Order: sequence, then structure tokens, then C-alpha cells
Amino acid sequence: MIAADPDHELRYKPMTYGGSLDHLEFVEVTPIIGREYTKAKIKDILHASNAEEQIRDLAVIISERGVVFFRENQQDLTVDELKEFTDLVGKLSGRPKENGLHVHPLYRDPGNIPMGNGETDENIYVINSEAAKKLYKTMAGKDSKEPKNLSREWHSDATFEICPSDFSCLIMEETPPHGGDTLWCSGYEVYDRISPPMRAFLDTLTATCAQPVFRSACTAGGYEVMSPRGSPLNVGDEFAPVHPVVRTNRQTGWKSIFAGVGLHVTKINDVYEYEDRMIREYIMILITLNHDCVARMHWTKGAAAIWNNSCVWHAATPDTHLVEGAVRTGIRASSIGEQPYLDPASTSRREALGLPRA
Ligand SMILES: [Fe+2]
Repeated sequence: MIAADPDHELRYKPMTYGGSLDHLEFVEVTPIIGREYTKAKIKDILHASNAEEQIRDLAVIISERGVVFFRENQQDLTVDELKEFTDLVGKLSGRPKENGLHVHPLYRDPGNIPMGNGETDENIYVINSEAAKKLYKTMAGKDSKEPKNLSREWHSDATFEICPSDFSCLIMEETPPHGGDTLWCSGYEVYDRISPPMRAFLDTLTATCAQPVFRSACTAGGYEVMSPRGSPLNVGDEFAPVHPVVRTNRQTGWKSIFAGVGLHVTKINDVYEYEDRMIREYIMILITLNHDCVARMHWTKGAAAIWNNSCVWHAATPDTHLVEGAVRTGIRASSIGEQPYLDPASTSRREALGLPRA
């Protein structure tokens, strides 16, 4: 069993907020998760005279709050600036020195969707409702009589990599007046909602996060998978890393449920099949039973969100095909963090902050 060991120092010293963003107006999205900057521009932060200080402080806020929204239109930020900003948030918050931005494994696919400017970029993931509609038509089970189950949408970015993404930043270029919301759920708080004996058990588990679709797509398309992908460890076409179910966030030192649930999580290791199913269903039930752990973004044109994948899951809402004439396009860059670990010296968020049990 991995018990908390307060006599040992944390592998990464927790970061502290230095006050450099105090001039920006914000509202907390909920008491537990999310902050929204109402007027701030990412461009101003990136080009401030104390940019490094501001970006480091922003990394602390994102890591403590899980996700940060920028409500003002951010479309004056160029693609290169979005990449530079996302890369710096990871770099200035202690990411391994050799890491950088994630490279999409299927970037060589000739069917890759271009950005609004008609170009493609190996570090940019493009969100496009028109492409999603085409994909929806080919989806197995789309005519199923079974009720909808959107729980499969919850995920953390690039968990199919040995080193997944720490920070992802998404700018929504076009968005319909309604529909297409994105939700984030706090893995810190879900962990805090679990009883101590159950937490101690979950602390011992790992999960396999296999995503065989990349290899099969490359084979079918006759091209090579991109490699390396933001870390010297993210190479090859296996895409089946083993990650801890409970992970320590390197910026805060707080524990979060990580690979216990989500799109890329294939199985909980070393347990029987029905136990695997039971554990993953249990964590999914915690997400659905505790919607106060969720922040919801209703997108407006040019709004942005940046989140820390090691302590939140997110889920898109696939309902824009129901909105007449809806177009939803966005671009996302992701930094690649460290290989996930559970630090025996780490504690839950509530324990670290001296807050009462939830
Ligand atoms: Fe995602």
C-alpha cells in the first residue's frame, strides 16, 4: 500500500502564487473548480515585461483551480503565439526540460483537417463541427435505440502517451449561439469524496491506456506515425502506457484521480475483469453524483480555456449537429508533461489546505 509519508519531501516542490496577476478581473466559476478572467488577453500576458512571472503564476492558478477560462475574444493571438504560450506554461511550471508541445500522431494523414487559415500544424489539434458531423454519420451505433451515454466523453488529453499532456489551451474560433459546451471535472475533489480506506486501495492501482486506433489508421493510410511526440519517451506506435490511477499533480503536490476513468483508459491492471469494470463504473458514478465538481463553459466567439490534464477530466457535448447552421471550429495546443507518478509524500487537496472532509 502507498501510504502518505509526511517525513519525505515531495518530488516536486509545490509552486506558490506570486501575485503578478492581481491586476486582472476574474470570477471563480464554482467554489471547487474553474476561474474565469473576464477581460484579460493572453496576448498581453505573453508580451508583458514580466511575462515569465505572469505565466508561472497562471500555471499555479490553473493547477489549483483545474481550468481557467478567458472570456474576451483571444483571436488576436496568432497560432505561433498560442503555441509559445502553451509551451511556456508547461516549461515555467517545471516540465522535464527535454519536453515540448505534443505532436499529433496522425499528422501525416492526408485527410487532416486544416485550421481556419487553411494550414495544418503538427502541434495544433483542430476542432471542426463539419468534420465531426461526417464522423457522426459513420459512427457505429448512431441509430441505436439505447439511451444516450455521454460518459464516454470524459478524458484527459494524450493519456495514450507515456508522457501525457500537462496543459492544453483551446481557442474557440467560431461557435453556435447554443450547444457545444465543454465540461471539466475536478479529479482532486473526486478523490476527496472517497473514503480513506477506498482511497488507500485506489492508490495502489495502475491502468493501461491503450489506443490502437493510431496504429491501425497509419497502417490503413500507408504512412508513418509521428515520432517523437513532445517527449523523447513518446515514440513508436504502441500507444499502451501504464499510468497510476491516482496521480500527484507536480505543481500543487495534491493527489487526483487520474487513469481511473476516461476515453483512453482500457483496463485497471492486476484485478479481475468484473473488478476492473466495477472500479471504473464506481469512479464514473462519483463524477455523475457530484456535479458540484464540474465547471461548464458555454463558448463565445474567440473565448479560450486552459486546463491542467493531470487534475481534471474534460468532456465535449456533441449536440451542435442539432443546431441549424451551427459551425464550431477551434484550435488547441498541448504541452507534454512528466511521466505520471504517485508521490508517497503527497496528500489530497483538502488535507493539504486543512479543509474539512467534503
Ligand atoms: Fe480533449
